[in-house]
Amino acid sequence: MRLKDKVALVTGGSNGIGKESCLLFAQEGAQVVVVDIDEAGGQATVDQIRSEGGQAVFFKADVSKAEDCAAMVQVAEDQYGRLHILFNNAGIMHSDDGDSQSTEEDVWDLTMNVNVKGVFLGCKYGIPLILKSGGGSIINTASFVAHLGAATPQLAYTASKGAVLAMSRELAVIHAREGIRVNALSPGPLRTELLMKFLNTEEKKQRRLVHVPMGRFGEAKEMAKAALFLASDDSSYTTGTEFLVDGGITAAYVTPE
Ligand SMILES: NC(=O)c1ccc[n+]([C@@H]2O[C@H](COP(=O)([O-])OP(=O)(O)OC[C@H]3O[C@@H](n4cnc5c(N)ncnc54)[C@H](O)[C@@H]3O)[C@@H](O)[C@H]2O)c1
Repeated sequence: MRLKDKVALVTGGSNGIGKESCLLFAQEGAQVVVVDIDEAGGQATVDQIRSEGGQAVFFKADVSKAEDCAAMVQVAEDQYGRLHILFNNAGIMHSDDGDSQSTEEDVWDLTMNVNVKGVFLGCKYGIPLILKSGGGSIINTASFVAHLGAATPQLAYTASKGAVLAMSRELAVIHAREGIRVNALSPGPLRTELLMKFLNTEEKKQRRLVHVPMGRFGEAKEMAKAALFLASDDSSYTTGTEFLVDGGITAAYVTPE
């Protein structure tokens, strides 16, 4: 078991990448604090973990709110006494996110508050407990769009993921000698609710797939396996970097037909 005796907190743990990561981390021996605004989904994640013999607890928190982030970390301390793995994964892609003309200020602010401030607040409240626990691993979910511009615009989302990448690098440098590693996980286009709601017609899906050398969307389970590598001691000399798990999209200039 790669996470035996570890305590993990995963935001966005009710669905998609976060859910699959909670399940996999628990299977690998971690005690898991599942955090999300979706209470039913979070409870389902916990129920599944417990039915498989694992340990988990759900806490409802909005990662864009400081008091919620302080409280979620307190749950880790109260329930399990320690924190080693912090997976700042919760994120949104707003359906009204567009180009500089069409994106309203409230959509920009909401996207930044969840996707960027949420990571900052997770670290602000999580790092003191990780330090008290003897160190650990922080993983922040960025995206391939931190590297590539798209003509189908989602300006706030793209800017937010660039910020996550930059923030992860600097956090890594700041905490490198304190036993805390910080890395970004950058997924390619995935077959999760977040993207499928955005690419809501077959034509839009195919337009995106044209750019993916592997010719398919990724699965949340495939991201969970990458997150497990970053969470575990298998990546003990890895910090300040990015794990791009994207079906080759960022490597491609022309994709095979
Ligand atoms: N799906 C993709 O193609 C893709 C690609 C690159 C990056 N990502 C990123 O991966 C991460 C997870 O996405 P996913 O595909 O699993 O999406 P998802 O929509 O399936 O899951 C996201 C989860 O975050 C939760 N959430 C949203 N706002 C929250 C808030 N304020 N506080 C707490 N929880 C909140 C949602 O309730 C949901 O359970 C996100 O950061 C996303 O931007 C996704």
